[in-house]
Amino acid sequence: MRITGSTAVLFILCDPVSHVKGTDILNRQLLEEGIDAAFSPLHVAPGSLGTVIAAIRDMKNVAGFGVTIPHKIEVLPHLDEITTQAREAGSVNFVRRSPEGKLIGTNIDGAGFTRGFSNQGMTLKGRKVLQLGAGGAGRAIAFAIAAAGAAQLTIWNRSSERAVALAAEVARAYPLCLTVAGGNDPAGFGVVVNTTSAGMSESVEMVIDPSRLSRGTLIAEIVINPTRTTLLRCAEEKGLNWSNGTHMLEAQYELMRDFIGLRK
Ligand SMILES: NC(=O)c1ccc[n+]([C@@H]2O[C@H](COP(=O)([O-])OP(=O)(O)OC[C@H]3O[C@@H](n4cnc5c(N)ncnc54)[C@H](OP(=O)(O)O)[C@@H]3O)[C@@H](O)[C@H]2O)c1
Repeated sequence: MRITGSTAVLFILCDPVSHVKGTDILNRQLLEEGIDAAFSPLHVAPGSLGTVIAAIRDMKNVAGFGVTIPHKIEVLPHLDEITTQAREAGSVNFVRRSPEGKLIGTNIDGAGFTRGFSNQGMTLKGRKVLQLGAGGAGRAIAFAIAAAGAAQLTIWNRSSERAVALAAEVARAYPLCLTVAGGNDPAGFGVVVNTTSAGMSESVEMVIDPSRLSRGTLIAEIVINPTRTTLLRCAEEKGLNWSNGTHMLEAQYELMRDFIGLRK
């Protein structure tokens, strides 16, 4: 990868920084497409977020930046505009910098999930969906599932009050999708989406009883590492189709590229 004066510079703002691999994945995709742009991680402590963003406004060769833990919510007051997706999710993960230094934030977790799912040949339209988890990514994904035309959405979360609050918000925003908070029994659902981080650890018990999965149910997991979580291995054993966190991540690249306006 060549970085020159004509390269569109981008950052990922995060703290801590040592675990960040997303920049490498994004740079490889940019290189493959022949786009003259490059991401670098920036280690930004929470107290410095405002100062760093003010500086980025004045950096004329910066096209935008990503934000990850712990800045996804705290970035909001530093932006000029946010998209509907960011407002619904209550957080931002990518920001476009206009040539005049205006900063527009969006959240592509939800659209990344639905696009990654459909890229595997599966559809949410008209489906009865069980979503496990109502955390940061889960919020964005619930709105996106309803927006994608699911007929029904049941949200379960370990701490039930988060599921109740999220279900009420999604129901208000997308009245055509019957959205409720409920239990985690997957029987009878056409799609089961796991947005919890439980799959990151092999030692954590599964968030559902796999023996209760119905034939033909589509399974989605958003954890990136491992690529085959316990839930996905169960899905495979049962011959069920699935999508994983890598599919979501790859779809997010296309959405990021188009939102920021990176072109060959
Ligand atoms: N593929 C992608 O592009 C992508 C994008 C974003 C995130 N992710 C992954 O998605 C996962 C969630 O991220 P996040 O930002 O939403 O995290 P988060 O805001 O911390 O939310 C974590 C969620 O997991 C639940 N949870 C955690 N441990 C659990 C357990 N042992 N049993 C049941 N539920 C449990 C939490 O429930 P409580 O509310 O009860 O704590 C909450 O719903 C992470 O693994 C992250 O790496 C992937």
